[in-house]
Amino acid sequence: MGKQILLEHINKPGINTIDGYMKNGGYASVEKALKSMSPDQVVEEVKTSGLRGRGGAGFPTGMKWSFLDKKSNKPKYLVCNADESEPGTFKDRYLMERIPHLLIEGMITSSFALTANTSYIYVRGEMMYVIRILEKAIAEAYAKGFLGKNILGTGYDLDLYVHPGGGAYICGEETALLESLEGKRGNPRNKPPFPAVSGLYDSPTVVNNVETIAAVPWIINNGGASYAAIGIGKSSGTKLISACGNINKPGVYEIELGVPVEEFIYSDQYCGGIPENRELKAVVAGGSSVPILPKELILKTANGEPRLMTYESLSDGGFVSGTMLGSGGFIVFNDQACIVRNLWNFTRFYHHESCGQCSPCREGTGWMEKVLHRIEHGHGKMTDIDLLVDVAKKIEGKTICPLGEAAAWPVASAIRHFRKEFENHILHPESCSAKHLYFGTLAVH
Ligand SMILES: Cc1cc2nc3c(=O)[nH]c(=O)nc-3n(C[C@H](O)[C@H](O)[C@H](O)COP(=O)(O)O)c2cc1C
Repeated sequence: MGKQILLEHINKPGINTIDGYMKNGGYASVEKALKSMSPDQVVEEVKTSGLRGRGGAGFPTGMKWSFLDKKSNKPKYLVCNADESEPGTFKDRYLMERIPHLLIEGMITSSFALTANTSYIYVRGEMMYVIRILEKAIAEAYAKGFLGKNILGTGYDLDLYVHPGGGAYICGEETALLESLEGKRGNPRNKPPFPAVSGLYDSPTVVNNVETIAAVPWIINNGGASYAAIGIGKSSGTKLISACGNINKPGVYEIELGVPVEEFIYSDQYCGGIPENRELKAVVAGGSSVPILPKELILKTANGEPRLMTYESLSDGGFVSGTMLGSGGFIVFNDQACIVRNLWNFTRFYHHESCGQCSPCREGTGWMEKVLHRIEHGHGKMTDIDLLVDVAKKIEGKTICPLGEAAAWPVASAIRHFRKEFENHILHPESCSAKHLYFGTLAVH
């Protein structure tokens, strides 16, 4: 197992309480930042670390922080995106459930860097038990003087609130999240203006993922350069990967960025291989929104290089032969898995979750779902395959937010790499080995 930054203490007794957390060095970054650093010095350390947003897009965190309009006379806000709803991604929940003070410590140190005096953690509404865990931990932090007025006698004030999410995947899109936090329907906003200039209540705001904020304490305690030394090139540090599907050891793993994909799938340290030693068929490497890759392309790039778990290596080959690290939701399919059925399932999700603001997404996701439904149920036509590609193209790049792309890319990539399987479904619908499994086990709406 490589360097553990976020999960190092996860199994220590009492780590979910403030005393257990402090026994293991917890809240040191708050002491260090508030007592011996200026907000801009904290931002500089994060810049030096090369930390990139762990919510999916991988945008450099320090750079995002430096865009915040600190000169504005409006309040500044830090909002933590804990809405985690992407199929295949379940890492933030694990962190908040098991070591809630790591996020709270990160929120305090990061809020200080951003000169925010009020911050929010927006948690997926369905995760009520996580909300309770965080509220208890926040109460403990207030009691110890890490939150509230004049924190540790430094003159810095911070109030931290947990806000239950609106119960929709779209509320994870940062501007929809801000609308929802303001009490409105979670519809994404047109950009610009970006949240750094006009975010929550029209004030300068930074939105960051749970895992991004949880990395900040280590960076401040150990220095940005030490963090940058972990990983490879522009993929610095560690990344939580939630692994599921046809693997022996599903779970959340912290990897040093740069582990070969093959090692991640087959090593006993991580996924432990495929049950019954079945063949690997395909992988969705970064949550349901990223392009699916067949075995040949997920293990090696088009140039024959071993594919690594980094932002750069996974996207090598662009959308012709690459994918993305995304939010780290790693879904493995064995040779018995049905690509068509899986894609229909993902597309049902995106159709259900489209907020409906943009016609290409609202209508297109519905059309793709219907066409995939008929292919999956043995009523498909050969022209349906190109029809799907055409609809996906007409969504991509034509919507206010990237949910459109999130719905289009899985369709385009599944057809690009598995066209034969779609043709086979249309010509010989009875031949799909997974068919009986699907009818027996999945509810159809
Ligand atoms: C439809 C949709 C859902 C999203 N859901 C999440 C989410 O649950 N958690 C998250 O951190 N980012 C999510 N994002 C990305 C956020 O918009 C944003 O980029 C992220 O919170 C920024 O944090 P980071 O810079 O730390 O990655 C989503 C984006 C889209 C388009």
